[in-house]
Amino acid sequence: MSKKRILTIVGARPQFIKAAAVSHAIRDGYAASIEEELLHTGQHYDDNMSANFFRELDIPQPHYNLGIGSRRHGEQTALMLKGIEQVLIDGNYDGVIVYGDTNSTLAGALAAAKMHIPVFHIEAGLRSFNRDMPEELNRVLTDHASALLFAPTQTAVDNLAREGFSQETVLFSGDVMLDNVLHYTPLALNNSKLKTQSPDFILATVHRDFNTDNPIRLNGIMAALNETAEQFGCEVLFPVHPRTAKRLSTMPKGTVSERVKMVEPMSYLETLAALKGSRLVMTDSGGLQKEAYFCGRPCVVLRPETEWVEIVDAGAAELADADSMKIAAATARLWNCTPQPPTQFGDGHAAERILKQIAAFF
Ligand code: UD1
Repeated sequence: MSKKRILTIVGARPQFIKAAAVSHAIRDGYAASIEEELLHTGQHYDDNMSANFFRELDIPQPHYNLGIGSRRHGEQTALMLKGIEQVLIDGNYDGVIVYGDTNSTLAGALAAAKMHIPVFHIEAGLRSFNRDMPEELNRVLTDHASALLFAPTQTAVDNLAREGFSQETVLFSGDVMLDNVLHYTPLALNNSKLKTQSPDFILATVHRDFNTDNPIRLNGIMAALNETAEQFGCEVLFPVHPRTAKRLSTMPKGTVSERVKMVEPMSYLETLAALKGSRLVMTDSGGLQKEAYFCGRPCVVLRPETEWVEIVDAGAAELADADSMKIAAATARLWNCTPQPPTQFGDGHAAERILKQIAAFF
């Protein structure tokens, strides 16, 4: 059988991390049957949001970088669609891999499906059931444009079954982010130069538009970071997403506790080391919720709902929204919690399982 040409489409920070697991598994076990080329839409473009991940995770340099950058959702997705379509016309690909739920995911899936090129969606079937989130639309639409759907959890498999997907197109693969956490944690701990002195610190991140672009919510979260740092006498390590940094810079200067250490976005290995060094995580990120659980750390979720319900069900995370009272109460409840090793996200070999299925598809 001739080698199949796959175009992997990425654009945002979590996708570089997920693509690393699959690219490495292609290199290690499928190089004879699959030839992968990478397209970067340019959705994330700062060095510490993009190129740094390619260097650190040893991901092949993108064959194409569309350089699209930050724009309104419609314009950004439209430009990606146009650029990706041209690459697909020129490149003679047999399949396209997309990850997660960003605008880059949707554009890649739509461009390929319209050209009858099979789409392989990794991290399929996640649902927050909140259609106000751009990610929820991206997920649902991408799933329905895909030929193979790789679900990281049984909940995701069940969501897809409810939407009428046939069993042949859906595979419970496990989560490629667990593959990465298991693979990279020893390296991360060896290289660690943690930016906090405190042995028991909180790792916090905020980047969702509904938190950053609503001053009441952003204020509520900042107040909660201050208060919990003072109440628990600990530091809060707060790597600040560029959008959050922009919003914070336009808000009236409140008193941020000296215990809250705002730093630039961290690399993947720095994040893993910080997770391992932390006592508890506060975040509105889906990826960090999972990574906290995989690293045995409890998580206060700064959202009213989550796609990763099994972590809440396991008692390792609580939904606290942007409400400083709820955040303080959840922190108090989780402070002494040490989550058990995860069983719901596969066995750390998701990438291999995914590639086996893709190879069998052709
Ligand atoms: C995107 C994804 C989100 C994912 C997140 C990971 C969508 C709809 N959302 O959200 O699902 O969790 O990536 O980080 O695709 N910015 C910079 N430099 C950068 C990147 C972003 O300054 O390199 C700033 C810009 O002001 C931009 C804002 O951050 O407008 C938001 O970036 P964008 O890529 O639109 O969305 P994210 O919030 O990062």
